[in-house]
Amino acid sequence: MSELWIGTSWKMTKTLAEARAWTSGLVEALDGAAPDGVQPFVIPSFTATTTVRGILGEDSPVLLGVQNAHWEDAGAWTGEVSVPQAKDAGAELVEIGHSERREHFGETVETTRLKVAAALRHDLTPLLCIGEDAQVKEAGGSSAFILEQAAGALEGLSERELARVVIAYEPIWAIGEKGRPATTAELREPFAELGRVYGDRAAGLLYGGSVNLGNAEDLLGIEHVTGLFVGRTAWDLEGYLELLRIGARAAR
Ligand code: PGA
Repeated sequence: MSELWIGTSWKMTKTLAEARAWTSGLVEALDGAAPDGVQPFVIPSFTATTTVRGILGEDSPVLLGVQNAHWEDAGAWTGEVSVPQAKDAGAELVEIGHSERREHFGETVETTRLKVAAALRHDLTPLLCIGEDAQVKEAGGSSAFILEQAAGALEGLSERELARVVIAYEPIWAIGEKGRPATTAELREPFAELGRVYGDRAAGLLYGGSVNLGNAEDLLGIEHVTGLFVGRTAWDLEGYLELLRIGARAAR
């Protein structure tokens, strides 16, 4: 089996002091190596990218990402950060199309496609997030919806390019304070469908949305799931370290 990706986006949380404390604690706990079979990753706010890179060091077993990046390399795009800038700051991953960005900041299938291409052009790993809302789920359209979101964002890629893309399925109804944890039964079909299309072709198929210390092991047991993308539970370092331990056990 390939490695299980276990990572977190901090979303819009953490001061630099908090980012330093979390990252230093992680570096100390890992002592130079990721647990066997696990690929850790962390995605701070832009403001903390260089700080986190500095603490992780250059050859860290932990991949560092940004939560968004523009599709153009440079230009008059006030408030945006480009992929080359993110790379310059030490990022290796670019999170693309999180549902919060789609809902609040006008991210579309078209912009996710442009951003995936931009990340690949600069040799960064795109972490493409897809997921349906409660309405789509209730109408029974989850799998068709997420396959369409993925196909739109990945259109035109060669198989070699696709092999560098990590996909995170994050149902909107399961994310954040207002979300409810998904059951493994609910996730089996969407992952079967994602696995059928992308299982052998993409770099990973992660699950995200209300992952906690009580459900992580079961979620990693779902067929085709190759990792977890976590918010709240991992913002506390102890929570993240426990998720890494759960990942290491699942990878055995
Ligand atoms: P959550 O966030 O774990 O806090 O539900 C998940 C996500 O948005 O990736």
